Amino acid sequence: MGSIGEDFYRETKYAPAEPSVFAPVGPVALKTVKLPPPRSPSRASLARLLSKRRSRRAFSGESISLGDLSFLLWASDGKSSRRMPSHLRTAPSAGARHPLDTYCIISHVEGLAPGVYRYRLDEHSLEMLREGDFRAATVKATAGQEWTFGAAVVFAFIAEFARTTSRYKDRGYRYVFLDAGHICQNLYLAAEALSYGVTGIAALVDDEVNAIVAADGTERSVVYMAALGRPLDTGKGGEDA
Ligand SMILES: Cc1cc2nc3c(=O)[nH]c(=O)nc-3n(C[C@H](O)[C@H](O)[C@H](O)COP(=O)(O)O)c2cc1C
Repeated sequence: MGSIGEDFYRETKYAPAEPSVFAPVGPVALKTVKLPPPRSPSRASLARLLSKRRSRRAFSGESISLGDLSFLLWASDGKSSRRMPSHLRTAPSAGARHPLDTYCIISHVEGLAPGVYRYRLDEHSLEMLREGDFRAATVKATAGQEWTFGAAVVFAFIAEFARTTSRYKDRGYRYVFLDAGHICQNLYLAAEALSYGVTGIAALVDDEVNAIVAADGTERSVVYMAALGRPLDTGKGGEDA
């Protein structure tokens, strides 16, 4: 038994069918990749982005550029600006606690080896934690959502609950989930601005995702994901899972 918040979080996990094959990772990143400064080439109005936004699940398999990934990470939950206090980000957060870190499971990004990366917002860089092809593992970790196989990048938003619960106690669990929604909506709108397709994912096998990103599942755990790629023009956003 933990606190109400911990119990709620644990009891509402989807259980994995079998133990994960992924071993913990060491404390030192395999390598660090500095991202180019975030720039949006889009001049689309906010009203247009809002009205065009859809969840898209059919991807062409094309690679996305490092510059576009840089913008998507910054827009989702990056540092607002060099002139702002360092704890302020593009997404709001209850009490400015910012409990979420963005991880990327990369399959098709120009200049990046496929693997699992952690976004470091202070340096605007990516640290590689694991190298390899994680597409099949991601399908499994998203409870069999096969459409994720075609994504260029799958984002995983990992909460360190104590950043928020140290101030708000168990009520903080609510705030962490709300914070994740803000981040993913930013990602949806940024993706729309760059003509990428994206879909948020909450039907996930929590501890399978946690094993991939090397989170312990209690103090640090996945709360939300999103799969992104260049969309196939199917004329529809795809079916719900
Ligand atoms: C919290 C949340 C979780 C979601 N989880 C999934 C998911 O696991 N798989 C999926 O295909 N779509 C998922 N979606 C996308 C919804 O199905 C989609 O937003 C909804 O059908 C409305 O379509 P629209 O986004 O195109 O407006 C999720 C959306 C939200 C907000």
